[in-house]
Amino acid sequence: MPIRPWPGKSLNHGLHGGMIKVSKVRFFSGEQVPLEMHKVRIVQKLQLPPLENRLEYIKEAGNNTYLLKNRDVFLDMLTDSGVNAMSERQQAAMLLADDSYAGSESYFRLESKIKELFGTQFFLPAHQGRACENILAQVFVKPGTIVPMNYHFTTTKAHVVLNGGVIEEIVIDEGLSVTSKHPFKGNMDLQKLRDLIRKWGNGKIAFVRMEAGTNLIGGQPFSLENLEAVRKVCDANDLLLVLDASLLADNLYFIKEREPQCQSMSIKEIAHRIFSLCHITYFSGRKLGFARGGGICTSERELYLKMRELIPLYEGFLTYGGMSVREMEALTVGLDETMDEDIISQGPQFIAWMASELIRHGIPVVTPAGGLGCHIDAAQFVDHIPQNEYPAGALAAALYIAGGIRGMERGTMSEQRSPDGSEAFADMELLRLAMPRRVFTLSQVKYAIDRLVWLYANRHLIGGLRFVEEPKTLRFFFGRLAAVSDWQEKLAAQFKADFVDSL
Ligand code: F0G
Repeated sequence: MPIRPWPGKSLNHGLHGGMIKVSKVRFFSGEQVPLEMHKVRIVQKLQLPPLENRLEYIKEAGNNTYLLKNRDVFLDMLTDSGVNAMSERQQAAMLLADDSYAGSESYFRLESKIKELFGTQFFLPAHQGRACENILAQVFVKPGTIVPMNYHFTTTKAHVVLNGGVIEEIVIDEGLSVTSKHPFKGNMDLQKLRDLIRKWGNGKIAFVRMEAGTNLIGGQPFSLENLEAVRKVCDANDLLLVLDASLLADNLYFIKEREPQCQSMSIKEIAHRIFSLCHITYFSGRKLGFARGGGICTSERELYLKMRELIPLYEGFLTYGGMSVREMEALTVGLDETMDEDIISQGPQFIAWMASELIRHGIPVVTPAGGLGCHIDAAQFVDHIPQNEYPAGALAAALYIAGGIRGMERGTMSEQRSPDGSEAFADMELLRLAMPRRVFTLSQVKYAIDRLVWLYANRHLIGGLRFVEEPKTLRFFFGRLAAVSDWQEKLAAQFKADFVDSL
């Protein structure tokens, strides 16, 4: 019988709503571990630089994990974007790519796969997710308009703001509490949506945006029921509903796992239903489809025509949109694989396992575990570091020193200052440890857990950071920071004392 812990009791460490669905294979030992339903046939050698070098490299990188060189990283948990492992079917498809500026067969294969899987009529290709956001914002966002959304993503917000709009975040309250038992923390609060419409009038609202697998609050899904209700409010008020489906694979898995009305639906049926509820859906193919690229889907001719003219201007001709033909072939197959529950369950299962092991060691993580990666609550982990010294950024730097592991700050550093120059404190201070799909083995995840457990025992040694170079827009990408004291040397000395000759 398949093991379905939701709704109901978790199988493993049930603390703080931690839940695990392991593979359909039971272990005789009774141990609950996620079992990989794939085998590794191409490998890349990894290096773990010695401690002294790690200390030097993180300083050279201005304590910003984006600025580390990949060759100096042991486990790259920065992102799941463009770094997912491809299948042999994807690799094979790339050899059949049809090179052509206009009318490439590779494009037509992609277009017809999208029609088949998502049921939408029109497709506009783009080189990645933020390129779709640029086009949507240019077409629909006018100065003074509002874009209500369950939660923002960094590039989404930047494009809306660049075009003179304002975002309004109306995720349900549970979405912003780090630990919860709510299965769909990415749901939109319908009352807040109605209130916004009443306050501004529908003429001021550019569109309503839902984000699948809500990135910045810990990869949290929305339910199909919630999306249906949001669409009803949009219909009643003549508003466009736009879906960011970049993290749809995880969201599909969670809907299938957790939403009673969807248990008997196939992943493809759920996907069809989701796409049919949204006027426009866009995605980053760097996440959805285990490839690269992206695009915008709609079944409404008028909307398609409005956006179409910007594609050749910013992306490329309509039959590639900035994607290489090989990328399009890999994406076509990767989207097909997204309909396979065995395949899309691997990421969330690894993440749930990692979260539950961390909880067992008393380490604060976002619960329920979501998609994308395991999210550590830095506000609690290093609760002695004030928000204006970037606790999540400091923890990211410390984890690199402790283990050569590269995570990503998702907190105040990732926010932009207010117009008056004051810090805009993030709702949550998270260290995201992404789980690129099909990339890591369980022992590598165990290693990451081990180093986090050591860091937690020595958390008092971790100190804050301050900017020494701070770009105005999206400062987290290439801003540089310095430690506020010599805490990094002290942390390294403790590592040396505890691990002696270990890397
Ligand atoms: N929307 C969401 C929800 C995303 O997570 C991303 C990218 C984008 C849009 C932009 O897509 O990178 O292809 O331009 N997220 C990456 C991350 C960068 O690391 O979370 P893109």
